[in-house]
Amino acid sequence: MVENQVNYYENPLEIENKLWSLLVEAVKNRESEFRTPVFICGNKNDLDGRVIVLRKADKENRFVQFHSDIRSSKIKKIKENSNCSILFYGKKDKIQLRLKVIAEINFKNNITRESWEKTGHISRKCYLVTNGPGSVSEKPTSGLNSKFDNFDFTKEQSEEGYKNFCVIKCKIKTIEWLYLAAKGHRRALINFEASKKFTWLVP
Ligand SMILES: Cc1cc2nc3c(=O)[nH]c(=O)nc-3n(C[C@H](O)[C@H](O)[C@H](O)COP(=O)(O)O)c2cc1C
Repeated sequence: MVENQVNYYENPLEIENKLWSLLVEAVKNRESEFRTPVFICGNKNDLDGRVIVLRKADKENRFVQFHSDIRSSKIKKIKENSNCSILFYGKKDKIQLRLKVIAEINFKNNITRESWEKTGHISRKCYLVTNGPGSVSEKPTSGLNSKFDNFDFTKEQSEEGYKNFCVIKCKIKTIEWLYLAAKGHRRALINFEASKKFTWLVP
């Protein structure tokens, strides 16, 4: 059986290497199942999740990043409670990852400038909506002004979106790994706070 042969089944170092390779690959590969996790934030009375696109995964400094409109309701929630979580599942690898993170909002700084420069024409369109995401509209709408409501705008014109663009940098506190296997699931928690600690858990 192929799954008997995975080198990360019971080896903490290989588990960590595997999960980071999944996160790093997801940033580069549009087809990766780990590219679009669910980001969850809020407080005990109002907690919600939404799909995001993973834009950076830094193993050495233990953080991941994604982009958002600064006007999104999740920004207020993160400001009130920066303890958030990110949930991934890859059916092919049969791996679930649950990250507990501290989210940091970056706006009009070096981090946002670097990410914005790498953001292409099509993706920049998201930040050109007149009113913020979640604003009520009397009719079905893309939220875009007619000059942006097709791809007939220059990269220069798309610069207008930068004023709404932010980068959420998520410093990882813990990663919980779950691997599904017919011969027995395996589950572990890696705590990156203080000195790194690896703990096996019952799946
Ligand atoms: C495939 C996919 C990728 C998305 N990527 C992002 C993203 O990277 N950042 C983001 O803020 N919203 C992204 N969204 C939209 C969010 O899921 C959500 O609808 C939006 O952020 C508004 O909700 P919020 O203000 O509660 O975050 C994505 C949605 C889908 C379906």
